[in-house]
Amino acid sequence: MTERAYKLATSQLLREIDEQKLEQESQTAYRLIAGEYYNRRHMTCRAFDFLDQRILYAYQQRYGLVKGGEQYLEVGGGAATLLRRVLPADSSLVVGDLCTEMFQHSRALPRNMAYEHFSAFNLPHTDNHFDGVFAFLTDSYNVPRFYKEAWRVLRGGGILLMTCPTRLWAKTLREGDGDSLYYARFTMLEGRTVLIPSITWSKEDYLQLLVCAGFSILVYEEFCLPSEYPSSRIPETIRVPAKRLGIAVSHMPLVTALLAQK
Ligand SMILES: C[S@@+](CC[C@H](N)C(=O)[O-])C[C@H]1O[C@@H](n2cnc3c(N)ncnc32)[C@H](O)[C@@H]1O
Repeated sequence: MTERAYKLATSQLLREIDEQKLEQESQTAYRLIAGEYYNRRHMTCRAFDFLDQRILYAYQQRYGLVKGGEQYLEVGGGAATLLRRVLPADSSLVVGDLCTEMFQHSRALPRNMAYEHFSAFNLPHTDNHFDGVFAFLTDSYNVPRFYKEAWRVLRGGGILLMTCPTRLWAKTLREGDGDSLYYARFTMLEGRTVLIPSITWSKEDYLQLLVCAGFSILVYEEFCLPSEYPSSRIPETIRVPAKRLGIAVSHMPLVTALLAQK
């Protein structure tokens, strides 16, 4: 697809999004919350982590995503808690994040993993370099430029796995509270609220975003918390939208997962 056709096809999705502003706001917000993002008292984040881990293990089992002897990239990787669980010793993983504070307190990395500081909008890697690109909870950089960059650094046949909060959850929670659809509220342990840019899409939008960037879509799925998820760990941010929709929490789609191929 030509650059002009790409811009036309994606302009509809980008109506209200300024990438530079998005990057600045994300960096400011994640700097403020980095020290406590992984604290177990942040139950919304923990519920999303739980589902990301399930998705990764399920997809690893079903599709064998991560293999020996390959090179992988994780974008917006934070403390890099996920992929290291399935990474074979003879594969390598670069974990990058816009906000160095998100990984500076994390556990020492094994020899086949490295941290880098970069934005999803300007990946500092050569074209056709990686066998797989992973991005868990992409909502702060979930715009066409990220998908184009992911496609560029992947080799032909390489895969992209991304997850993001669902549009249904974000819309029902945020608009129901009178908030902007494009920001998540993160309440710090001392009570202050930080607004984090958070862009979610419908299934149709994702298909358009990914196909416009050059990908073939392999899998689109939405995941709910299982009914056995401990009730004491389900926060109001998940209970309230389920109630507004008149459904059980275990039927509330929370995370979108997309597997695509270059
Ligand atoms: C919701 S957190 C998820 C962190 C990690 N993927 C996880 O699941 O633990 C989103 C991460 O994306 C990073 N981020 C936000 N905007 C970014 C951008 N433009 N480029 C790269 N990373 C970005 C944030 O600093 C943060 O670490």
